[in-house]
Amino acid sequence: MTTVFLDGQFMPIAEAKVPVMDRGFLFGDGAYELIPVYSRRPFRLAEHLRRLQHTLDGIRLANPHAEAEWMRLIGEIVARNDGDDQSVYLQVTRGADTKRNHAFPAQVVPTVFIMTEPLVTPPPAQREQGIAAISAPDMRWLRCDLKTISLLANCLLRQQAVDAGCVETLLFRDGFLTEGAASNIFVVRDGVLLAPPKDHLMLPGITYDVVLELDAAHGLPAEVRPVAEAEARGADELWMTSSTKEVLPIVRLDGQPVGRDENAVRPGPVGRRMYDWYQAFKQTVMRAGE
Ligand code: PDD
Repeated sequence: MTTVFLDGQFMPIAEAKVPVMDRGFLFGDGAYELIPVYSRRPFRLAEHLRRLQHTLDGIRLANPHAEAEWMRLIGEIVARNDGDDQSVYLQVTRGADTKRNHAFPAQVVPTVFIMTEPLVTPPPAQREQGIAAISAPDMRWLRCDLKTISLLANCLLRQQAVDAGCVETLLFRDGFLTEGAASNIFVVRDGVLLAPPKDHLMLPGITYDVVLELDAAHGLPAEVRPVAEAEARGADELWMTSSTKEVLPIVRLDGQPVGRDENAVRPGPVGRRMYDWYQAFKQTVMRAGE
């Protein structure tokens, strides 16, 4: 049985219960992180915890744990559960009040929940063939840099893709690419990697950073700048990146093939290389931790 951590205790998932007055339940008032674990080693943990701090600062919620304590708790949840490759989910909410009130309660006792699931990355066939995506106007709020549990817009947008038989929805705001419903989006044009800048309109992805680091390490040209919708639609390659999807090529957008060769709907060469670099990098990090 899966073991989770809730408010200071490890317990079987079936026993983990949250009061209905919890502000996470009533208002979606909380922060979360999702950390991939390879061979029982959390990947880029310090960076995930730094982003958690950024979110907590953004929603004015004091971090209930110091970094070392988070690391200990995450290490323990990984050790207590099966599987070498896991996906650790942690959530901090503003806790339970005695009555429903939009303004913060005077006494804030945050709820801390950590669970882990098997890490499921895209199957090889999906990676090799690439995936189809749709697009939609980005109708989310203006603090998309915060990883909050208020994910209704993201859920609706992802469901739109699923309803259309696709995997992801690319979001455009005011004529520019922001990101995906639950991923960051990269564009390749004429051998140059284009990435929207990390601002309030997108989540600063941990995978996004790794991709840009690998790009620089291999001497590929990259431009981090606003990407116009027309540039994304006319891309040679499109990829989605996230902790669970890693680097996944998009070969159709709104039914149109991505790339110049309309007869060959298949992932492009830059994305293939990036995927290989990403896998090699993961191996290096895991070995270095030994
Ligand atoms: N989501 N943008 C959004 C809106 C996301 O939800 C995610 C990831 C990303 C990629 O971030 P990272 O590379 O740090 O995983 C970008 C996670 C996987 C989730 O919500 O489950």
